[in-house]
Amino acid sequence: LGTRRVNDRGHLEIGGCDTVELAERFGTPLYVFDEVLLRETCREFHAAFRKAGLRYQVAYAGKAFCTQAMCRLVEEEGLHLDVVSAGELHTALTAGFPPEKIHLHGNNKSRDELIYGLRAGIGGFVVDNFYELDLLAELAERQGKRPNILLRVTPGVEAHTHEYIQTGQQDTKFGFDLASGQAEAAVRRAQRARGVNLVGLHCHIGSQIFETEGFVLAVERMMEFYARAVNEWGASLRILNVGGGFGIRYVEEDRPLPVEAYIAAIADAVKGEALRRGVAVPEVWVEPGRRIAGPAGTTLYTVGARKEIPGVRRYIAVDGGMADNPRPIIYQARYEAVVANRAGEPVEELAAVAGKFCETGDMLIWDTPLARAVPGDILAVFGTGAYTYSMASNYNRAPRPAVVFVRDGRADVVVRRETLDDLIRLDQIPERMRKEQH
Ligand code: LLP
Repeated sequence: LGTRRVNDRGHLEIGGCDTVELAERFGTPLYVFDEVLLRETCREFHAAFRKAGLRYQVAYAGKAFCTQAMCRLVEEEGLHLDVVSAGELHTALTAGFPPEKIHLHGNNKSRDELIYGLRAGIGGFVVDNFYELDLLAELAERQGKRPNILLRVTPGVEAHTHEYIQTGQQDTKFGFDLASGQAEAAVRRAQRARGVNLVGLHCHIGSQIFETEGFVLAVERMMEFYARAVNEWGASLRILNVGGGFGIRYVEEDRPLPVEAYIAAIADAVKGEALRRGVAVPEVWVEPGRRIAGPAGTTLYTVGARKEIPGVRRYIAVDGGMADNPRPIIYQARYEAVVANRAGEPVEELAAVAGKFCETGDMLIWDTPLARAVPGDILAVFGTGAYTYSMASNYNRAPRPAVVFVRDGRADVVVRRETLDDLIRLDQIPERMRKEQH
C-alpha cells in the first residue's frame, strides 16, 4: 500500500525511509505519513470527478488530520478545505491556505468563529441551524458582507460501514431536519436574509462507508428537496455537497470501494435526479477526511514489557496508546501491525498490543499475528493517519508525538514532539501556593 515495502535489511520502509531509523532519529511514538500516498489519494478524487464529467469540488475534511504542512499539501493538490473550528481555520490561514477555498462547518459555531471566518473572507459557511443563520446574517450585514452559504440538511439516511439505515425523523444534533419541514423553513429564511447568499445544500450521512446505496438514497432525497427549492421557492441553488465518509481498509476484512466507484454512483444519481426533476445538474462537492489521511499514516512505537498469562493471552506493551490513538478505546476500532525491524520474518505468535496508559481498556490491538517482539523492537501500526493525531490527548501527561512526512528517502518533521516543558507551559501556580525561592 503506497510506498510501503520491506527493505533488504528486513525492515519496514515507507517513502524510502527505514522505519527503524526513523524511530531512532525522531523517537517513538511517531506518526509517519507517506506523502506520495496522500497525494495519490487527492488525485484519485480529481480523476474520479473528471471521469464522471460534472462540475465538482473536493474539500479535504481537516478534522481527520490538520497541520500546517497538511494544509500546504492539500492546496498543492488542488483541493479545497473543510474546517470545523477557529483552530483549524487558523492552522490553514497561517499556512497560507487561500481563504476563498475554505468552508466552515460546525453545529455550534461561536460568534468569534463566525467573525473570524467573515474577516478572513472564507469561501463559505455550512449553516447548521436557525440560530446560526440569523447570527451569521446579522454579523455579515454589519461588516457589509454577504457570504455564500450552504444549508446542512439531515436527509434521514445514516450509513455505517456495511449498512445504512433510513430514519424518518432524524434524531441528531446536526443540521435542518428534512422530514419535519425544518429544512424548508431554513431555505425560506435564508432567502429573505440580506446578510447571506444561499447557494446550495449539504448533507453528511456517516463515516467509514463501504457501499454506495446510502449515498444514492441521500442524493435522491436531497435532490427532491433541491428541485423544490429551485422550482417552487425560486432559490438560486447550484451546489449539492454530499459530505465525506468514504471508507478505508483498517483490517483484512474491510472492503472499501475504489474512490471512483463512490463518485460515479453519486454523480450518476445527481445527474439522473436533476434530469428527472427539471433542474440544472448542480456542482457536486465532497468532503473526504479519513480516505485521504487514514491509509497514509503509520504509527511507530517501541515495544517494552511482555506479559504472558499461560493459556490465556500474551500482551506486549508499547510506549503509546490511547493518548496518541484513542480510536480503539472510543470506537472499538481495529488495526493491523507489524514488527518493523522483523518485517521480513514469519509471523510467529498472537499478541495483544497494550498501550501504556492507566486504563484497562487502553489496548491498541487484540490478538494480532506478529513476529515475536522483544523489548526495543519497533512496532508499526497501519492506517493511523486519520482521527489519531487530531484526537490525541495529553492523558497521563504524555507529550504528543512528532509527525513526519516521508518521501523519496527524506523525512521532514511537520509537527515536533512535545517536550516535558511543553506540558507545563500553560500551568500557573497561584502566588499563595508558591514555594519560597531560596
Ligand atoms: N464532512 C462532515 C460534515 C463530517 O461531519 C465529517 C466527519 C466529514 C466530512 C469527514 O468524514 P470522513 O470522510 O473522514 O469519514 N472520529 C471518528 C470519525 C468522525 C467523523 C466526523 N465527521 C473516527 O475516528 O472514526
